[in-house]
Amino acid sequence: MSGVKRENTRELLEMESKYCSWGDTVHYSKNLKIFERAEDIYLYDSEGKEYLDLQMWYSAANFGYKNKRLNDRLKSQLDTIPQLACQYLHREKIELASKLAIMNEEKFGVKGRVHFNVGGSAAVEDSLKLVRNATGKNLMFAFYGSYHGRTLAVSEITSSYRYRRRFGHFSNRANFVPYPYCFRCFYGQKKESCGFYCIKQFAKLFETEYYSVYDAKAQACEFAAFYIESIQGTCGYIVPPEGYFKELKKILDMYKILLVDDEIQMGFFRTGKFWAIEHFGIKPDIIVFGKAMTNGLNPLSGVWAKEELISPDVFPAGSTHSTFSSNTLGTAVGLEVVKIIEEADFEKTVNEKGAYFVKRFKALQKKYPEMGDVDGLGLALRVEMCEHDGFTPSRDLANRMFEIGLEGNLSVGGKKRGLILDIGGYHKNIFTIAPSFYITKEETDLAVDLFEECLKTALKK
Ligand SMILES: Cc1ncc(COP(=O)(O)O)c(C=O)c1O
Repeated sequence: MSGVKRENTRELLEMESKYCSWGDTVHYSKNLKIFERAEDIYLYDSEGKEYLDLQMWYSAANFGYKNKRLNDRLKSQLDTIPQLACQYLHREKIELASKLAIMNEEKFGVKGRVHFNVGGSAAVEDSLKLVRNATGKNLMFAFYGSYHGRTLAVSEITSSYRYRRRFGHFSNRANFVPYPYCFRCFYGQKKESCGFYCIKQFAKLFETEYYSVYDAKAQACEFAAFYIESIQGTCGYIVPPEGYFKELKKILDMYKILLVDDEIQMGFFRTGKFWAIEHFGIKPDIIVFGKAMTNGLNPLSGVWAKEELISPDVFPAGSTHSTFSSNTLGTAVGLEVVKIIEEADFEKTVNEKGAYFVKRFKALQKKYPEMGDVDGLGLALRVEMCEHDGFTPSRDLANRMFEIGLEGNLSVGGKKRGLILDIGGYHKNIFTIAPSFYITKEETDLAVDLFEECLKTALKK
């Protein structure tokens, strides 16, 4: 690294500490890194060090960094219609909305429409408006471990109290229900023998008005919708047991509670299907999406809702609107992403690549009991770091590995590299692994070897 660069990095970090709010960043690491370049599955820091990225911007960059086709599409849109007020129409918005709506009609047999916004939280806010407008109610069910974003309304249905604590009273705070996290069952049950104990507990809430959610005389539930992530994202890429969502949906239908499916992190094939919910054989009333729709380029998020919830008769023009909502750059890239998906066979490749990752991680798990649980659906993979007993969560081990990965000094095949990992989970001990869809077998081997190096080094510390 040249002296000039080192000086430059130090200066930048000093400026950051003085002038950048930390409110919009996470600052997990004490050793802050400035990255200068991104390509394919790698990030490069200001020293030119290479880092293999196993989290791809929380699953926003599914199609690889600097994806040529998507970058070219963005550039061509810059040269044709880079800006346009959203009250006017442009082709890409209409085509993208149509493709998604037609696809959902084919998948779920339900007609609907698509509404755009910028950023996941904004789209979840829009979905809350749709629900409130349709039901006249403002209370929601959501899961423990849910993450639906950080704007004020959305914080009400995001389960962590830490995210709300500083910001006063949240009058519409959701009624949170345990998610089927079978490795650490909230009720201490065993998956093999529980008979969906958790669902039975949820169903119980409706038995008497004194359990506070349902008036049997009026046949009215106080709660409008249940917000789900069918694979829980931020809380650890947790895959629910077979049949869970079908059982839940029966209860929701019985009490006329809408189902809102947050696909912001898992949508666009992260789990090997376009929507994660397709794995579970149920039909949502509303789907919210974002992140990978533009591969993390010009942000765009969206909501699909059933016609009866979103038709202009009930949700008229301007019901919720933002200056940047259906921006021309985002919709152009979003449309190109959908075309890429139509041309590829991600159902096959994402599942195959995910299965290979799981196989390799499970082999490692035999050597290292600290990898308490390894699982995944498609390329949404989880490795739960534990004490030597393979169960007690070890946040400390996960943190050490995260830091070691970021140091960039892991040695595999005679070359030094770093490893970008992301930590999630209720106990902050889970690596939520979201590789690029284009990762090759050789790169997967390298990633798992780097992971092992990282773990070995952390265990020595
Ligand atoms: C499932 C889910 N919903 C909502 C959000 C919020 O999206 P954004 O960060 O774009 O506001 C996220 C972000 O990680 C998410 O994973």
